[in-house]
Amino acid sequence: MVYRGAMTSPDTAASPRPKPLVARRPAGPLAGAITVPGDKSISHRALMFAALAIGETRIKGLLEGEDVLRTAAAMQALGATISRDDAQGEGADWLVAGRGVGGLAEPGDVLDMGNSGTAARLLAGVLAAHPFLSVMTGDASLRRRPMRRVTDLLVHGGATFLSREGGRLPLAIRGPAEPMPLAVTTPVPSAQVKSALLLFGLHAPGVTVVEEKEATRDHTEAMLRHFGAHVAVEEVGAGRRIALRGQPELFARDVSVPGDPSSAAFPLVAALLVPGSRVTIRDLGLNPLRTGLLTTLMEMGADIAVANRREQGGEAVGDLVASHAALRGVDVPYERAPSMIDEYPVLAVAAAFAHGTTRMRGLAELRVKESDRLAATAALLAANGARVEIEGDDLLVHGSGRPPAGGGMVETHMDHRLAMSALVLGLAAEAPVAVDDTSFIDTSFPGFVGLMNGLAGETPALVAP
Ligand code: S3P
Repeated sequence: MVYRGAMTSPDTAASPRPKPLVARRPAGPLAGAITVPGDKSISHRALMFAALAIGETRIKGLLEGEDVLRTAAAMQALGATISRDDAQGEGADWLVAGRGVGGLAEPGDVLDMGNSGTAARLLAGVLAAHPFLSVMTGDASLRRRPMRRVTDLLVHGGATFLSREGGRLPLAIRGPAEPMPLAVTTPVPSAQVKSALLLFGLHAPGVTVVEEKEATRDHTEAMLRHFGAHVAVEEVGAGRRIALRGQPELFARDVSVPGDPSSAAFPLVAALLVPGSRVTIRDLGLNPLRTGLLTTLMEMGADIAVANRREQGGEAVGDLVASHAALRGVDVPYERAPSMIDEYPVLAVAAAFAHGTTRMRGLAELRVKESDRLAATAALLAANGARVEIEGDDLLVHGSGRPPAGGGMVETHMDHRLAMSALVLGLAAEAPVAVDDTSFIDTSFPGFVGLMNGLAGETPALVAP
């Protein structure tokens, strides 16, 4: 099957048909051994790098969530040939025949990146290096998110952009005939921004240097090496300087995508909160720049064991066993934020069950995620009887050591991680928690509801209202 486009459009499918759901306490403990879908960050990058490589790349374990399918559709619109090896059934491999660095073709239509900030930012870096016109849009959530954090830097390489007020999508991009290498320090700790710059630099002659003041996830650097580019990384204080030699030939390489630690966070925290639970999560990505949640939960007293540590395609992988335990409040330093940036909503849920206050510092970046996650996480907890405050860019959750009351209705604002966090809360709160729309969960974690109900045993805990 040649892939022909995203399966559904969040704008047309999800908004008119929201999927409300209620989460209630399961009849007994959560128990079982699971795998979670492939890592979203690595899946986007695997498709993009494969499209920029010569030859056919086979990707195992690709996340088949809507965000990643948007990237697949975009790379195909740019001239790569992408197919799903259906012969293998569920969990099929994906095959990408690439065009080589600089070989992409002008897309015939607007590229719709749906709900995905990663797809939009990373692709902006690729498109800005091509001397043709491309136009990118997204759903209502993505059209609100800032793009100037990438476009303001990419203009130094010769690209031109036209956008709505505030640098919002839709965005028109025209790359220069000859892209120039960049020497940039990223203004915010963002792997998306860093990756957009490196993807641009791949197309420019000479060496592109990107410096970040705090280290962010390094999947792009790992993937560049995997496909044969020359990348040098130097530690500079708490940050890094990355030097990439431009215009290499990239050659097709097979990629095996580990389970997404940001998705595993939901069954993991659920296992910690539901009394008596014990859940094993296998084949999980454990890149140290992604494991801030594990560090924090362990500081809170969580019972989590890591087993079977190994390396897979330049990425750390292992299994986790999480068991129910009493948690205590902790202070989460702002330096840890990049390594757990997507996990704060579910950490805040865990904190609401802990004894004492958890202060999560330096969360300004949460305001520009799929929703304003700082405000929405506070609202999620407050609606369910937890005591919560926002102080500047810090989130404070005051736990009493007892489950919060629950019984609230949570608004998810087109944000998959808020929906899953609210459902985890409902599995352990005193009263069930209602969620207005869970359709966006499919952007990152298809099968989430079935998987969680599978852990709950005979009687489903996540049900239609
Ligand atoms: C991502 C980086 C993070 C994260 C996002 C995925 C990536 O964003 O929130 O879900 O794949 O590079 P920022 O790097 O902008 O914080």
